[in-house]
Amino acid sequence: MTTTRQTISVIGLGYVGLPTAATFASRGLQVIGVDIREDAVARIRSGEAHFIEPDLDIVLRAVVTSGNLRATTVPEAADAFLIAVPTPIRDDRSADLGAVRAALASIAPVLKRGDLVIIESTCPVGSTQKAAEQLRSLRPDLSFPDTAPECSDVLLAYSPERILPGQTLRELIDNPRTYGGLDRRSAVAARDLYAAFATGPNRLTTAPAAELSKLVENAYRDVNVAFANELSLVCDAFGLDVWSVIRLANLHPRVNILSPGAGVGGHCIPVDPWFIHEALPNHTPLIRAAREVNDNKPHFLADRIATIASRFREPTIALLGLAYKPNVDDLRESPALHIANALAERQAGRLMIVEPHIRELPASLRGRNDVVLSSLGEAVASADIVGILVAHDRFRGLNAGTVASKIVVDAAGLLANAAEAA
Ligand SMILES: NC(=O)c1ccc[n+]([C@@H]2O[C@H](COP(=O)([O-])OP(=O)(O)OC[C@H]3O[C@@H](n4cnc5c(N)ncnc54)[C@H](O)[C@@H]3O)[C@@H](O)[C@H]2O)c1
Repeated sequence: MTTTRQTISVIGLGYVGLPTAATFASRGLQVIGVDIREDAVARIRSGEAHFIEPDLDIVLRAVVTSGNLRATTVPEAADAFLIAVPTPIRDDRSADLGAVRAALASIAPVLKRGDLVIIESTCPVGSTQKAAEQLRSLRPDLSFPDTAPECSDVLLAYSPERILPGQTLRELIDNPRTYGGLDRRSAVAARDLYAAFATGPNRLTTAPAAELSKLVENAYRDVNVAFANELSLVCDAFGLDVWSVIRLANLHPRVNILSPGAGVGGHCIPVDPWFIHEALPNHTPLIRAAREVNDNKPHFLADRIATIASRFREPTIALLGLAYKPNVDDLRESPALHIANALAERQAGRLMIVEPHIRELPASLRGRNDVVLSSLGEAVASADIVGILVAHDRFRGLNAGTVASKIVVDAAGLLANAAEAA
């Protein structure tokens, strides 16, 4: 069954919310996109995204022009509300749900009987239940599914997002989705709403099971990448090439070691495992250790590059990549940025940063005369040391020959993998 809800409001128009809003609008629904950032709203109104995502601008322009997507800073009445605001951690690694609470508070005045609220933001277990309590305190005239299961005025579900930035539009449609309701009616309503475009397999479950499953997915990735990153340190100490060792080990039919890198970055994987650890610290030593191994990798690489640089009188260091992963412009929690910041702070040398997906350096590196944003060719030609931090496709032309006279620290395995492919 598909939804009878015709007007949808998406609260938070970032990497998740904006493509979701645009996709709903492209299927003929009326979408009201809400964001507190006036600059983002203004940009969206002109049919442009405020971040890079392949093909998003094409869809966005079409749905803004047709009037199916309208962006605003203040929530309005709608039949369904999707909440896709940030859920970061604080410095003490506790979950900061301030934006979710603010988003719920902002929709409470316009909620009406029959509405559906879906939280998409990655949240600690129990957050959907707390959302019901918050909405009830703001709207005592309405009932919610936790205290009125299968007969509440407002439906409330949790549906985590799994998109891979860079492939968001395709993955929104194809990925399997989980709908966790505070009651079954809510889960079914959430599934019916997404049926407007989501064609992948789906599962109905409870809100806490959906919340935990999302956290577990990212903790699983984190633990497995941590194993690869720990191996990179082991191989380094043995003087062995980690990429070759992993390729050999992966010949075993039941071994599949992931790739090491500069660390683990982005908005999700370095953050979400802490939501489990915060709730159950005594049960999660492995999750905590993985976080620490991955967080330590950029320090290790910055130390390595600084040590090499200290052998030169006036070292020039090319750092290839600042984004948290290949082929995106997203610098959030980026290990590469962490390495660049650490080297700049230590005044390790002249830094030539190559990041083809950004137009200016981030604030932490801007305005210094020892740090420049550079082209690949210029940086590699000028550098004594080349740190390959992100395996962007645009760096694929590099090979052992192009950097033959340089000292190379290849955290991304670009050269090793190029050599293997040749
Ligand atoms: N980016 C991803 O690939 C990804 C994947 C899966 C899950 N998630 C989760 O989805 C959620 C959103 O992530 P994102 O990457 O889209 O974040 P984002 O920072 O790109 O976008 C969030 C948007 O919400 C806006 N916002 C903040 N508070 C608001 C409020 N009270 N009302 C309206 N708008 C508000 C911000 O201005 C911002 O534009 C997070 O919980 C994240 O962990 C993200």
